Amino acid sequence: MSWCCCNRLSTSSSSVTSDLWRQFNVPCRISNVGLRQKRSVSAYYGLKTPPYKLDALEPYMSQSMVEIHWGDHHRGYVESLNKQIEKNDIFYGCTMDELIKLTYNNGNPLPEFSDAAQVWNHDFFWESMQPGGGDIPKLGLLQQIDKDFGSFTIFKDKFIEAALTLFGSGWIWLVLSREEKRLAIIKTSNAVNPLVWNDIPLIGLDLWEHAYYLDYKNDKANYVNVFMNHLVSWDAALGRMARAQAFVNLGEPKIPVA
Ligand SMILES: [Fe+2]
Repeated sequence: MSWCCCNRLSTSSSSVTSDLWRQFNVPCRISNVGLRQKRSVSAYYGLKTPPYKLDALEPYMSQSMVEIHWGDHHRGYVESLNKQIEKNDIFYGCTMDELIKLTYNNGNPLPEFSDAAQVWNHDFFWESMQPGGGDIPKLGLLQQIDKDFGSFTIFKDKFIEAALTLFGSGWIWLVLSREEKRLAIIKTSNAVNPLVWNDIPLIGLDLWEHAYYLDYKNDKANYVNVFMNHLVSWDAALGRMARAQAFVNLGEPKIPVA
């Protein structure tokens, strides 16, 4: 039986330097010529819609809760990010993943990082839930959970324990670690997410107070248990796991390599 729970925190911010592009191997669609040109683009990133109707998670997450969380908080991160990007052409053309890695700036986050990461985190959170969620994972994901945590019950207890021991605002993640080639539970503070360490997230749970206070008040334990028992989308996690295995070899090669 084994499991992993890491607490990873952000540090202070700094300004963009002209060496930024040489520090990261991130292929944003931008040229040196483009950096010197004045752009007239006024919007960069849009607000994605959850992959279900806003009342579809009831009674476990109310329509009012989703409307405020998605329609106000999530939208606010998108609008704030776009305002910041408007002032800084250097980020034009980055995908959200690229923008997060760039603005994390090797643990010395740039001012744009928090909004960029929160936009990505919330997109991922909505897609980590589904109507009729909960139950247990299927197929290879369940086998990998059994292998890395001992059993699904142990994993579930550890995930809930991690959520309830997170200090302050942040996120709990089930990730596939590229380096360790195993599943792990990760805690992150504020907006930080596992992309900055190159881990592959499979499930993300929002533990900012705005994520649950309207429906659950101070009862964070109830919110976390309801997420695990009725909301989490193991279908989404299974799809993410299947795609992740293109990058992380979890077993013996099925096809002999010459
Ligand atoms: Fe949130």
